Amino acid sequence: MLRLKPNQVIRRYTSQNGTEVIIRTPCISDLDDMLQFINDLVEEQAMILANKKMSRKDESKWLRGLLLKMKNGDIIQLSAEVDGHVVGTAEIKQKVLREEHVGILGISISKRYRNLGIGKVLIAELIRLSKKKGLKLITLEVFETNSRALHVYTSMGFVKRGVIPKHIRYKNRYVGSVQMSLEL
Ligand SMILES: CC(C)(COP(=O)(O)OP(=O)(O)OC[C@H]1O[C@@H](n2cnc3c(N)ncnc32)[C@H](O)[C@@H]1OP(=O)(O)O)[C@@H](O)C(=O)NCCC(=O)NCCS
Repeated sequence: MLRLKPNQVIRRYTSQNGTEVIIRTPCISDLDDMLQFINDLVEEQAMILANKKMSRKDESKWLRGLLLKMKNGDIIQLSAEVDGHVVGTAEIKQKVLREEHVGILGISISKRYRNLGIGKVLIAELIRLSKKKGLKLITLEVFETNSRALHVYTSMGFVKRGVIPKHIRYKNRYVGSVQMSLEL
């Protein structure tokens, strides 16, 4: 079984524009960074499901729960760190029972750090670790209007399996969600 420790460095590399990036697991001292990270995405109205800012108390509870799930092997959670700050997060949540072989992927990168290849590197590491964990399938959902995310997932090998019309409410409109999967 794959069990990751807090603040475990997975990979260090230099991105396309010379930025030093550390891919690592999260730790409790990431709290303020993680809070800023999610609240910036909510403020921006990024195409993610979260639409409410988090309080420090709620984020602390969430982060503690996350670290516990990581310790128990229920989730593969990675952060991208640049200059000592979290600029991206990505995870694979393992499903249960007859779907135990399936992981659900989620990912977000801070606005300033998009299009530097960090998303693709995080996904590549998640795929590698998911295989190591014995998962057989990764699924995800993405807004049908999120052309960058669709491009990234397709180029990482994910295949579009269908669209659920009006699945998401975004900026006072209904948007379809694209269902994608990757067999490992
Ligand atoms: C989607 C996201 C995770 C991708 O991560 P990223 O680090 O920006 O992606 P990368 O830099 O690895 O790759 C970006 C690719 O998209 C392409 N791209 C950029 N804008 C695009 C657009 N509007 N339409 C299509 N492709 C686009 C880039 O050219 C690049 O492709 P290439 O490597 O083939 O040249 C990130 O942009 C993000 O977090 N966005 C906001 C939140 C979000 O949408 N999360 C996903 C929810 S499902």
